[in-house]
Formats: sequence, C-alpha cells, structure tokens
Amino acid sequence: TPGRTDGARGLRFSPVAPNTADQVTVPVGYAQSVVIRWGEPILRGAPAFDADKQTAAAQAGQFGYNNDFLSLLPLRGEHGRQVLVANHEYTDEILMFKGYDSENPTREQVEIAWAAHGLSVVVVQEEHRSGKLTPVTRHPLNRRLHTTSEFELTGPAAGSPLLRTSADPSGRKVLGTLNNCAGGTTPWGTTLHGEENFNQYFANGSSPTDKRYGIGSGATERKWERFDRRFDLKQEPNEAHRQGWVVELDPYDPDSTPKKRTALGRFKHEAAQPRLTEDGRPVVYMGDDERFDYFYKFVSSKRMKKGNSRAAREHNLTLLDEGTLYVAKLTGDTPQDIDGTGKLPADGEFDGSGQWIPLATGDVSHVPGMTAEEVYVFTRLAGDKVGATKMDRPEDVEPSPRTGRVYVALTNNTNRGKGTNPGADEANPRNLNKHGQILELAEHWDDPASDGFAWRLFLVAGDPNDPATYYAGFPKEKVSPISCPDNVAFDPYGNLWISTDGNQLGSHDGLFGVATQGERRGELKQFLTVPKGAETCGPIIQDRRVVVAVQHPGEIDGASVEKPASVWPDGPGRLVRPSVVAVWRKDGRDIGV
Ligand code: FEO
Ligand code: CA
Ligand code: CA
Ligand code: CA
Repeated sequence: TPGRTDGARGLRFSPVAPNTADQVTVPVGYAQSVVIRWGEPILRGAPAFDADKQTAAAQAGQFGYNNDFLSLLPLRGEHGRQVLVANHEYTDEILMFKGYDSENPTREQVEIAWAAHGLSVVVVQEEHRSGKLTPVTRHPLNRRLHTTSEFELTGPAAGSPLLRTSADPSGRKVLGTLNNCAGGTTPWGTTLHGEENFNQYFANGSSPTDKRYGIGSGATERKWERFDRRFDLKQEPNEAHRQGWVVELDPYDPDSTPKKRTALGRFKHEAAQPRLTEDGRPVVYMGDDERFDYFYKFVSSKRMKKGNSRAAREHNLTLLDEGTLYVAKLTGDTPQDIDGTGKLPADGEFDGSGQWIPLATGDVSHVPGMTAEEVYVFTRLAGDKVGATKMDRPEDVEPSPRTGRVYVALTNNTNRGKGTNPGADEANPRNLNKHGQILELAEHWDDPASDGFAWRLFLVAGDPNDPATYYAGFPKEKVSPISCPDNVAFDPYGNLWISTDGNQLGSHDGLFGVATQGERRGELKQFLTVPKGAETCGPIIQDRRVVVAVQHPGEIDGASVEKPASVWPDGPGRLVRPSVVAVWRKDGRDIGV
C-alpha cells in the first residue's frame, strides 16, 4: 500500500517500513539501479571483473571495495555528466576470496586488498528523464588511488621528524591512504576524505601514543606487515603517524598528488565538512569516531578566491594549510537532571553552551607541554590535556546550507557509564547508549569562526515507543524508528538525511529524511533499507535522484564466499558486491515533492 505521502517538501514519499529483506527497498513509485559495483573497470586497460581470476593489477584499474563517502561534482562542457568520487574504506577478504585462509593470506590477495582500498574518481552519465547513472569507463578524469599511490603531507607538521621514515627522510611523501570513511566536498571543487580506523593496519605498536590511537602490540588481522615493512612499527615506528589525516583531492586534475592536510590534526577522522565564514574563510568540522573521543573544527586564516582561473584554483589548494585547530567542550544547562536513562530534563531539552578550545595555530601550540607538531600528530592527546568533552562516537557532520546550524551524528556508545568509564552528560545523556543521537550546534552570531556556540540534541534515536528517545519534539507515533545514525546530508529543501550503521532495532540499516525547521521539524521518514549485513553510506540527495553507497553487504559473522549471507546485488551463485545505488521517481518528477 502506498501509505502516507504527506510531509515537508522534499519528504513527500510513503515511508519504507522497517524490514530484513536482502535487497534495497525504496518507496512505492520509486525505481533504482546499481550505478557501479566493486570490481567494475574504470581505467583504460582494466579488465571486466572476474571473481575467479582477480589480480592486483586488475583491481588497480577497477572500482574499489566497500564504498563509503560519495560526492557528485558538476562536469562542465559534458552534457548530462557528473564526476563521482568514492571512498573505499576497507576490505572483507573472507567475502572477496574463495577459500581465504586468514592466517596465511597470499601476496596476491594482500596486493588485491591494497588496490581495493582508497579512492575512486569515475565520471557518470545521467539517463535522459530518469535518475539513472551509468559509469563512463576510460574517461580521462577517472582515477584510482590506493595503498601504494603517492600522497603529500602539507601544512605545519609536514616534514616533522615525527613523520619521517627510512623510505621517506623528507617526512612529506606517503604511500597510500587507508580506511577512508566519510568526507566532504569543498566550495572550491575538491573533496575531503577522512582516514578513520588506520590503527588496524599496523603491527607491533609499542608507544603510549600508539596505544591511545588503538594500535595493537601484536600481528594484524590482515598480516600486511609480512609483505611490506612499513606496516610493522617495530621496523618503522613513525609510519602510523602518516595515516589518520584528512586527504584533499582535486578530482578535476587527474595528474595532481592528493594532499594530507596536517593542520586538521590526526585522529580517526570520520569526515570533514567545510563551510565559509562571511569573509570567505573555510571552517571544517570534524569528528573522531571513537567512544569518548572528541569533536573538532579547523578555521582557515585564508580567504577562498572565487572563479575557476588557474590562480584561484592554486590559491584555494592552500586554504587548509594555515589556520587554527580547535576542539569542542560542551556544558549542559540542566546537569542535575541527567541520570543516564535518557529522561528529558525539566527544561524539556538536552541543551547547553559550548566552547571551542584552540589547540594550535600554525607553528604555535596552545596546549601546555606539547609542541605544535605534537598537537597535530597526537591530536587526541591535546584534546585530553585541555579537557575536551568525551562524546558518543562523533561520526559525520553537516552544516545546514539554509540555517547554518551544524548537525553531528553521534552513532552510539555502549561503554558509556560502564565500569570506570565516564557516565552520561547532557550531550551524551544515556548510559550504555545503543542507538545514538544527533547534536544540533549553532555558532554564536552564526559565525563559523566563533569561539562559542549553543547546542541541543535534535534526535535521541531508538524505538519511538521507548521514553528515552526524542524526535525534536515531534509526535513520536508518526515517525519511522531510527538507530545508530552515521552519515548526514542535506537535500535541496533543507531537510536532513541520515544513513545508519548497526541498527539495534532488529531491522536492516537504511536512509531517512527529516525536516529541521517548521512545524514538521522532527518528522523522520525512512526512504530506503539496504540488504543483509550492509550499512548505508555516502547519501547524496539531488533534486532528481538519491544516491547511496551500500557498504559491506553480507558482512555477518561466519559468512564467506562459500557461505554467503547475502546474494545482493546479482543473485544466487554470484559474489556479494558492495555497490553504489541510484534511486529516482518513476514518474520523472523530483524526489519527495
Ligand atoms: Fe567508518 Fe565511523 O564509520
Ligand atoms: Ca537542558
Ligand atoms: Ca561512517
Ligand atoms: Ca560507522
């Protein structure tokens, strides 16, 4: 049945019911197709995907594994085409290789995994009168960047002794980008990519800072250290310092070397989303996705130059190298009412004030006992020292293009209040928090460079029948249930779209839209669900189409190539493949109007 199709403009679709179908389920009246799958060739000379004959050389010219962040950029002069940029966060070897022996991976398997990580740039063609997108293989802008591609460290910590290795005495030239999770798109036409759980690739960590970043003291699960000494910290103790950054890529220049921007700090970067101050300086908001870790922003000291001249483009590629890095401290206004259950405080809101604590400006440290280089390379320790607020896993962040308010997905934190861990506070109000929350932040005077802000929780996720949930005050009997918000994006009407990872309500992950203004503020509606074992990533909401990355379909304990948990997208007998999906309206009209 079509169901209710009223709603805020942009959200007038019949909500998809929670379900466990092994498919992408979209609202009645909508169509979908796979844009591109793991392994499809994008570069000249790359072969078609063949699961039984996969090689590292083939993979280096094919779309990578586990697509996460997506960006679609305009392509001038080529009608009906856009540039798709995708992150490939990590590999699931057990779902990629027949008979995979996790104790003894082969060199070829390891090199395939290296080539399946990283970034893809692929031009896509729109179909006339639908939202369908298809890849333009061998387009000159198409590009793959992976674990052996060259990246340049820039900004105030570049060249630091902390970043030098035996292969790179300059401390500026890094091979590879790892665990690119979410990201952002800049107003000057580049993309930002967060290097998140890089700790898992490094063996034999030993320093206290390795420990603070979650690097283990033994072998890694993937055993890459057997095949390249740079993954063995006993041999190359500084190599892990060269991951955990925000990468900036210029997708319009296929010959450019992507940059790792040290001014934005080193942590488990989930995402990086910029907006401009009134005088044109970029401010980048960033979360560190770890239980009890921090939320940051970087304020550039340079103004963006408008236009597409070579001089403007070159100037804009230096914007993220100079400025100040801050960390957030949040103070609730009704702390006496926070009991860890999620019960609303007497003033009716989880809310309060916030302070941006400066950590470093260029070569100047603002943290006692740490040099500026140390602040950038060991940013988590700087946050510890200044007493930043320990959050429930800050994931993606998105400023509203309509109101300037910033939305931060805090995905969950089942360790909150457990044992000696910090207990609930007003911004993280539930102990053993399974479902997560979304924070809404308003900078003072709506100035992104402000050193203070107001905040409130927009959404406290979970079963709407559970009193410990909050849907921005909207009647909860009229909303779709949501759990574990991860990625956030805005549609052309100013509605917030939220994708989830790890739904704890017994149904599959999915994508939701919610109004942030007006009388329908908080009316959350589910737009799609993803197949078994998958999370929903990278949502892009254009007027004619919704695009999502279906990441790690079939990733269920005990599943393998031989015993698949999902048969998406190609049916039984075919390998389950992470893929990008486009959804559009069958009648050709805009999404949700
Ligand atoms: Fe890769 Fe924080 O999700
Ligand atoms: Ca309050
Ligand atoms: Ca994520
Ligand atoms: Ca996640």
